[in-house]
Amino acid sequence: MSKGALSEQVCREIDHWVAKFPKGRQRSAVISALQAVQHENQGFLTQDLMDAVAEHLDLPPIQVYEVATFYSMFETDPVGRHCISVCTNISCMLCGSTEIVAYLEKKLDVKLGESTEDGKFYLKQEEECLAACCGAPMMMVNHDYHENLTPQKIDEILEELD
Ligand code: FES
Repeated sequence: MSKGALSEQVCREIDHWVAKFPKGRQRSAVISALQAVQHENQGFLTQDLMDAVAEHLDLPPIQVYEVATFYSMFETDPVGRHCISVCTNISCMLCGSTEIVAYLEKKLDVKLGESTEDGKFYLKQEEECLAACCGAPMMMVNHDYHENLTPQKIDEILEELD
């Protein structure tokens, strides 16, 4: 059964995560719950959705807002369908992430933090180390890692997306 703005599938997924923690520790499932909700809502969270998560988990809404606004993986404004995050930390920077960001900005005609006009791509703010340093420079697209990037490889990756 769905609760408020949450679909039945998302409610089931949240309950799956809640069951992994001791009774009364449902707060530990907030990150997983928000990931499920954001995924279903085309990559961003609304206040209604965050409130619905709080209600489903029987938590004060502030405890859900805190998580949604703290972690860089959550968006609270509408963004493009495909989220691109380029790591610009030290290994990636030394291997050319500055040029990778510049290439993406030019190709997509956006700056970091912006979405393309057609709503297809979101070039997220730079990421800190994503623990794939030996494949630098790297980026994450919709949570999939792509390493040893070149402009040609970026073209191929983005062409695969609908
Ligand atoms: S510095 Fe980019 S993945 Fe570690």
